[in-house]
Parts: sequence; structure tokens; C-alpha cells
Amino acid sequence: MKQAAARIAPLTGLAQEEVLKLMEVPPQETMGDVAFPCFVLARTLKKAPAVIAGDVAAALQGEGIDAEAAGPYVNIRFDRDVYAADMLEELGSESFGKLQLGQGERVVIDMSSPNIAKPFGIGHLRSTVIGAALYRLYNEAGYTSVSVNHLGDWGTQFGKQIAAYKRWGSEQALQADPIRNSLELYVRFHDEAEKDPTLEIEARDWFRRLEQGDEEAKQLWSFFVNVSMQEFNRMYKRLNVTFDHTLGESFYNDKMGAVVEELQAKGLLEESDGALVVRLDEENMPPCLIIKKDGTTIYPTRDLATAIYRHHVMKADRLVYVVGGEQKLHFNQVFTVLSKMGHEWATTCEHIPFGLMRFEGRKMSTRRGKVVFLQEVLDEAAARALQIIQEKNPNLEQPELVAEAVGVGAIVFGDLRNNRLNDVDFSLEDAVSFEGETGPYVQYTHARIQSVLAKAAETGTYDSSAAQEGTSNSSGIVGDTSWSLLKLLCDYPAYLERAVLRSEPSVIAKYTIDVAQAFNRFYHAERIADAAPQVKSFRVKLAKYTAERLACNLSLLGVQAPERM
Ligand code: ARG
Repeated sequence: MKQAAARIAPLTGLAQEEVLKLMEVPPQETMGDVAFPCFVLARTLKKAPAVIAGDVAAALQGEGIDAEAAGPYVNIRFDRDVYAADMLEELGSESFGKLQLGQGERVVIDMSSPNIAKPFGIGHLRSTVIGAALYRLYNEAGYTSVSVNHLGDWGTQFGKQIAAYKRWGSEQALQADPIRNSLELYVRFHDEAEKDPTLEIEARDWFRRLEQGDEEAKQLWSFFVNVSMQEFNRMYKRLNVTFDHTLGESFYNDKMGAVVEELQAKGLLEESDGALVVRLDEENMPPCLIIKKDGTTIYPTRDLATAIYRHHVMKADRLVYVVGGEQKLHFNQVFTVLSKMGHEWATTCEHIPFGLMRFEGRKMSTRRGKVVFLQEVLDEAAARALQIIQEKNPNLEQPELVAEAVGVGAIVFGDLRNNRLNDVDFSLEDAVSFEGETGPYVQYTHARIQSVLAKAAETGTYDSSAAQEGTSNSSGIVGDTSWSLLKLLCDYPAYLERAVLRSEPSVIAKYTIDVAQAFNRFYHAERIADAAPQVKSFRVKLAKYTAERLACNLSLLGVQAPERM
């Protein structure tokens, strides 16, 4: 904590910031509030860490600090009644929780990026919610986030889509249920193509026509794009996600020629089996395909053009790609080719992968048509939430609105609480539960604090100045559970920093659960309503900051915090 760091710094010759970075939370609360490890000082001070720890502890002792050496560590305990007021004040300050890690650096985030005419898969859901959380977390830490939805709106599959539509499709059916109908056509195409190889030829031909700008092909394509987008936009609205740019792969069609020329000029293109590739033998990777045998461009070609555009036109200082782990090789290849082209900024490109998610044990395979539709998942989550809400609080106003916030929040939080690299077996029942480490549990805790605060305001004892006086003048105000909660609230900036440096929203999600649990322990152990006035105002203030923290964290994660549940 700041106060201890300020006193340790001059004893060690380290800057206060460095001391803060080194400080740890002891493994057991009984050991102290913070611990300072002395290993790093051994070299400069030319003493054993344990000796240094003894010196530092002796010098720190007093003025509200109780310090004790334990081997190479100094365990520090604060006098709660001396420090609680300062800590509350810190929590209330304008600048609390804002970091300057980024210094305005522009981070372009590639996120969501579903494919036109295909279902919005769970992988795209993960990319959307992880990307949207990172977008807000980076901004909070002093970066300037720019989000891009890199729609999969180009590629040979559109040849198949058009061929199938020409054979079996109708405008009416596609309008009525775009994704399902497109998927049916796609599945049928693959089934029938197994028996009838001319279908593949037809599809390739349509894609070639599309690439050459044929009117009919272009019209059908933009019709597919429009109907799919309408459906995706409904989903984004429910998830409360917006994009700074929606630029599909097709946007780069006229920008790939320059990339191919540049590759050629730099002597990087080689022929292989009629195709053009960049060899990556030295890097121990398979070659990166640039132009296919039939002369068409491909996914990596478009990503090269995209990265160059984002660096030069969007002025990205950093390019991050929130895309499933199965595309690791693809991004490795693309970034390596960029650096072979001599683009030094290739080092600013980063793939932020995430694990697979199975839904109630169901996998997804677009080809087979066995897919879980996100819309249905969200509907079911909201329906379950409504059931629980109506049991718990039958008089709640606008229960459907709250249920939507809780149901969608349950899905988003249920995703984000996992380390992003883990594979997740998602259970709807667990995610929507009001107990356990869930979004609804946090939302419910937040709503409960609102009602506690409303009651406290009714009885009229809430007075912030009394709370501060109280904590510094009399003892016994800060109980064990309020002290733990207060410390945890003050630790927020460290969690934010960790989440941002690791691009890991789960750090914040787990911290948020810890805060909610700490509050509930406090609320059970230290009564608010019938406490003595000074004690009560301290606890009310603590409750208020807890509610603010929960609401803020939920919103960083993209989850709503209803006032009542
Ligand atoms: N549309 C692609 C897919 O669904 C993801 C695109 C990711 N972004 C990128 N720049 N490649 O697999």
C-alpha cells in the first residue's frame, strides 16, 4: 500500500513505485496486510536479505505500522483505525483506478469477425466478449482502443453459397431466416458435392466471377452480406457491443495487389505446385500461401493487406487479434511474412488466442449443420433468469428487462471468468445460477447493496464526514471483514494492471467475485442497520464503494448492473 511504500522507499534507496511493485499480499491474512521481500536489495546493500528485513522492520515500526521481519520478508500490519480513513478517501478520489500504462498508444483490436452466411458461432461470441472487455480495459489503462469487426465476407465459400442458392435457394426463404437458410444451402452443397463433383467446379467459377466484378455475382453477394449483418446486429445489440469500424475481408480486395507486388519485388514469392507462396523453412513453419493455383487470393493474403492498412492508415501503434487458438499458425505465418518484408512494426502485432468452448457438451461443426445458435442460447439464458427472478422477487417491476440483463450477463460473465486459454464446457444452469462464481451472483450482490443503501438513507444516518472522523478518532470501528473488504477495494489498480498486461479479462472477473464474496462476508458479520451511528456511517460508505466497484467492473466486462433484482 502507498503509505507503507512511501516509508519503505527512503530506507532502501528504491523509488516508491518500485517498492509498490515488489510488495506482496501475504499468503495468510494473519501474517500481515502486506509483505515486502528484501531479496533485490541484497546486492546494492551488500547484506543478507534477512538482515535487511530486520533493519527495515525496525525502522518502519511505529506511527500506525507494525512491522516484523520473517526471514527475508518484512510483514507489515496497519493500524486499521489510523489508515481506514485514508483508504476510504483514496477510493473516493477521481483518479482512483485510472492507469497510465498506455500513454494514449493506439491499439487496434480485431474482434468478433464472424463469417457472412454462417452462424455466429460460440468462437465468435468469445472473440466478441473478450475483445469488447479488452477494449474497455485498455482504455481504462491509458491506451486508445480502436475496434474492428473483420467480417469474413470474402473467399471461395461465397462461390459455393452462390452456386447453392442458384440451384435450390429463394429470396423469400433467405430473407425470412437468413443464417439458417444459408446454412441449409451450405450443408446441402457439401452433401451433394460428394456425389456430384461438377458442383465444386460451378462454385469455383462463381467465385472467380465474383473476384472479377461480375454484376450478378456481386449482387447476390451483397444480398447475402446484408441479410447476415441484420442478424448479427441484433446480437451485438443484445450484447451491447459496438465497433469503431466494420471492415470485412472484401475491403482489402483492391489492396492485395500492392502486397503481392511488394512480396515479388522483395524476392519473397516462390512458385510451388502452381501456387505462389512465401517459404518459411528457416522459421520451421509451412509455407504461407499467397496466391492459389487458380489465381485467387486467400485468407493470409488478405491479413497481410489488413495489417499494413491498420498500421499505416489507422495509425495503430499495436495490432491485436482476438481469435481462437486454432489460428495460431496462421497469425505466426502472417506476422513472420510481415517481418520478412522488412516491416519492423511486425513486432507490434499480437495474436490473443482463446480456448474452445463447448456448449452443454455440444460441439460445433458448420458443415454438418449441427450448430448451437447464439440467439437461442441468449433466449434460453434470459428465460431461465426470468424464472429465478419471479421466484425470488415476484413484485419486481419490468422483470423481462431485468431477466435479459441477467441472462445475457450470465453468458458474458460465464465466458470471461475463465482464463481465456482454457477450454470451457459451458453449462447454462451453472452460469445463470444466483449462487457460485457467476455474473448473476455479482449482479445480485450489487442490487442488494443498493437496497441496503436505500434503507440507510431512509433512517438518515449516512454522513460521509462522520465516517472519516469516526475511523481516525475511535477504535473498534473497522472489523475484520470490513478491513478485508476495504483492502481488496484498494487493490483494484493492481488487478487492472495485471488484466491489461496479460490481456486477460478473467483477472477482473475473478477479482469482482472476490469483492462480492468479501462484501457478503462483511454484511453477515458486521451489521449495518443496527450499528452505532459512527460505525454505521463507516459501513455504509464501505458498502457504497463496493457497489460502485461492482458496477464499474461489470460494465468493464460488458455486463449490466440492474439496481433491483
Ligand atoms: N472470420 C474468421 C473466422 O471466423 C476470423 C477472422 C479473424 N481476424 C483476422 N484478421 N483474420 O475464422
